[in-house]
Amino acid sequence: MTKLWGGRFAGQTDALVHEFNASLSFDRRLYAEDITGSMAWARGLVGAGVLTAVEADAIVAGLAQVRQEFESETFAFAPGDEDIHTAVERRLTEIVGDVGGKLHTGRSRNDQVATGFRLWLMAAIDHLQAHLADLQNALITSAETHLNLPMPGYTHLQHAQPITWGHWVLAHFWPLVRDRERLAQVRARTAVLPLGSAALAGTAYPVDRAWLAQALGFTAVSQNSLDAVSDRDFAADFLYGAAMIGLHLSRLSEQLILFSSSEFGFVRLDDAYSTGSSLMPQKKNPDTLELTRGKAGRLVGYLTGLLTTLKGLPSTYDKDLQEDKEPVFAAFDTLCLTVPVMAGLVASLALNPERMAAQLEPGLLATDLADYLVRRGLPFRQAHHVVGEVVQLAESKAASLTDLTLSDLQAVSGMFGEDVLAVFDVPAALASRQVTGGTAPDALRAQLMAAKTAVSSVSIVKP
Ligand code: ARG
Repeated sequence: MTKLWGGRFAGQTDALVHEFNASLSFDRRLYAEDITGSMAWARGLVGAGVLTAVEADAIVAGLAQVRQEFESETFAFAPGDEDIHTAVERRLTEIVGDVGGKLHTGRSRNDQVATGFRLWLMAAIDHLQAHLADLQNALITSAETHLNLPMPGYTHLQHAQPITWGHWVLAHFWPLVRDRERLAQVRARTAVLPLGSAALAGTAYPVDRAWLAQALGFTAVSQNSLDAVSDRDFAADFLYGAAMIGLHLSRLSEQLILFSSSEFGFVRLDDAYSTGSSLMPQKKNPDTLELTRGKAGRLVGYLTGLLTTLKGLPSTYDKDLQEDKEPVFAAFDTLCLTVPVMAGLVASLALNPERMAAQLEPGLLATDLADYLVRRGLPFRQAHHVVGEVVQLAESKAASLTDLTLSDLQAVSGMFGEDVLAVFDVPAALASRQVTGGTAPDALRAQLMAAKTAVSSVSIVKP
């Protein structure tokens, strides 16, 4: 096995150690970014007076051929290749001859891998942004279709106050706006060029790093070579963003699992998004939602794993850092499946307004009853107490609030008047919450408009 760094070694690497050390099985995914970075570096070396334009042309053409081999899946790995960087350079030199050996002048795999990984993540984030926008649009469509459909709202999973389907669905939309903003911020912090930092102390050749940054789609140049090759906070940032998306989708999943149960029956999952039981013929299982809920666990795990790897690492590059890529790739792959599946599930969801209406019992309007007393001049705390007594009275009669007569109510408080029955009106309760973010039809329409604007306002920067 020939190693690119084999010069100072007399003995061979142990076979198991080669396998242990190698990252090719996963970092081959970086081939395009590695090649793009190398092409820019070759041009940069011309500017620095290291390569002639003719030599750089030969290197760039050779790299283009290497890329073509990857794309046509004809690239042949050699036993000595330990990572994507050594594999590409080895093949380049086979193609272009000795001039290929000049490419690594003034560069290290340390700044090379940081550059390629950052480039990959920038593109990955753009890809995820598009998937997230699709899910957001599915939520918006569902909200718009049933904007004012009344349903019970819950706190502690107990009946609380009436809300609408549109309001509920948009509650799962806004977290995704923040998730996308977070990813956009991660992208901005990732778009800082490490190339030119070399192994740790900076390259000894006068390469124009600002030009390199611009040529590769970075928006800034790292200011400290030691920091540039050693930190992976951008990867951890991404994993936090990914974990948060996972958590948000797990909450949506959990609630839809409940809503699709026989007990609730508020929604029905499309056959395309549910599965059956091998034993119980009647079953229709929300596996898709359960998996989405479950995958949040591994997304949190990827973040925890990388943070633990990074803790206490001495400056600058340590091989521990090779552990950075698998969790990031895995988080990306997980979300690239989960998010579109969720978008399809939401888009195909069937609602059952009758089942929702059946749960709109008068108890959900107890707060409105207290508000009625407040409007008649009772301090809220007292009004709350009075209505509590009314609820207790109804319970003792095994009746609902609307079964109580006016004299029942007046026995609890003389402040109840004949107009009190008007309180027990779900549309009126919904309409009374006119604040921004409330359940009134106008507020919901405004919220929907704001949501539509928000989908398009998170910028998706193309690398
Ligand atoms: N495969 C390595 C990684 O992913 C590339 C950098 C290797 N650098 C080194 N000095 N051994 O981190």
